[in-house]
Amino acid sequence: MFLRTFAALAAALALASASLAQPAARSDLESRAPPDLQVWVTSSTDFCVILPRAKYSTIGDSEFPGGAKSYCTKRYDSSQGKVPAKFFTSGPFVSKARGKSGGRQVQLTGCINASASPRLQPNDGGGQYDSAPGGTDGKGNPAGSVCLGYNHYVQIVEPDANRICIRCCDNQSDCPLQFDTSGCKKIIPGRYDGC
Ligand SMILES: *[C@@H]1O[C@H](CO)[C@@H](O)[C@H](O)[C@H]1NC(C)=O
Ligand SMILES: *[C@@H]1O[C@H](CO)[C@@H](O)[C@H](O)[C@H]1NC(C)=O
Repeated sequence: MFLRTFAALAAALALASASLAQPAARSDLESRAPPDLQVWVTSSTDFCVILPRAKYSTIGDSEFPGGAKSYCTKRYDSSQGKVPAKFFTSGPFVSKARGKSGGRQVQLTGCINASASPRLQPNDGGGQYDSAPGGTDGKGNPAGSVCLGYNHYVQIVEPDANRICIRCCDNQSDCPLQFDTSGCKKIIPGRYDGC
């Protein structure tokens, strides 16, 4: 009886350490993504979003290889841009509640002043950035972009509606890619106070 319990415990421990080992292997892979293609959402003051690389671009016009990159509040590499001051007019709001699938996820939502970023056109209807298998070649948009600590991400920017949202997910079903014209409120429900 005791032996059997011990064997079960040992098996459970082996399983647990196997699943603990996985994120480490994944972050090795992630850290190989160039810094300007990495995003993360750690808190409402420590995060990155993808924006066009060129000035006064629409999201659509930035959807080519090299057309967009990460902009962070606490960048660690000079290839990453900075989130402009006064970009958010409400929020950003961060939630780490689990996804519908039960998988881990984190999301950041809020209202923006598109005019506060020299990367955006305020009258642009916006678009979507995402990790693989998004993008025209299935490598993500921008190609090779990743969200640190998670398997997938999806981000929408709606300059004309003053909204931005990003969600990083372990399960792809929590970061759907096929609703790219639906907007933040549909794809990433959350707090958008005032927009
Ligand atoms: C992801 O979520 C879907 C839908 O809830 C589920 O069927 C699938 O098994 C999940 N995949 C993983 C890898 O957990
Ligand atoms: C948006 O940003 C622009 C440029 O910095 C500024 O002139 C304008 O007052 C801001 N609008 C709002 C509503 O904050």
